[in-house]
Amino acid sequence: MDSFLKIAHRGYSARYPENTFLAFEKAIATGADMIELDVHLSQDGRLVVIHDERIDRTSNGTGAVADLSLAELKRYNYNNRMAEPGFVGIPTLDEVIGWAGNRVMLNIEIKNGPVRNEGIERKLADLLQETRFTDRVIVSSFDHYALAEMKRIAGSVRTGMLYDSVWIRFADEVRALGVFSVHPRADAVKAGQLRWAKSRGIQVYPWVVKDRETLKAFRASGYVDGVMVNDLALFSEH
Ligand code: G3P
Ligand code: CA
Repeated sequence: MDSFLKIAHRGYSARYPENTFLAFEKAIATGADMIELDVHLSQDGRLVVIHDERIDRTSNGTGAVADLSLAELKRYNYNNRMAEPGFVGIPTLDEVIGWAGNRVMLNIEIKNGPVRNEGIERKLADLLQETRFTDRVIVSSFDHYALAEMKRIAGSVRTGMLYDSVWIRFADEVRALGVFSVHPRADAVKAGQLRWAKSRGIQVYPWVVKDRETLKAFRASGYVDGVMVNDLALFSEH
């Protein structure tokens, strides 16, 4: 079996509204092994699946996630792509975990910028424990303090170090965080650093791959364990 992970970035987001059940269902149907998604806290402290700190770009509403209750967030239609007409609601993270079950792994990205979601690590750790989903998840973040906090609260949760530019002190940061995986932006990949990570048993998942040539090169590199894509058709042979 091919162990190279097909990771659906925000679900099958090239064709369906990102971070929604529609994009998640289509990702599984197209063969994704893992779904990457983003989480924020609503005004009433619920973990909701959305990329931006505001709902304006992806829904027909307006406002900051942190200023809207879950009931208010649920009123809006997040079907901004209209690939299929109809209402597409915002999912909560507990809904997604319940839906995922044993069908697909999740990469949950904690969004802590530009708005800080105070206490999100504790809420996420509690949810993962309640739902017993810990062994099917990687928690990643650009906010490395959030990753350290996750480790402190729930040592068994696998964390992924997200970054979007080349590090000088890469090895120090990886060691300090004790991460399961590193998630470089596809153009911030430094082969030497990633070979070093690989030699220490750390998984490597670049994002977002947008063409077959890059995908092929990462597959052949020997130090990449899977890639995130918006368009899952890239994984098909033709
Ligand atoms: O997790 C990889 C990638 O999703 C990070 O960037 O802005 O798409 O959340 P962004
Ligand atoms: Ca993300």
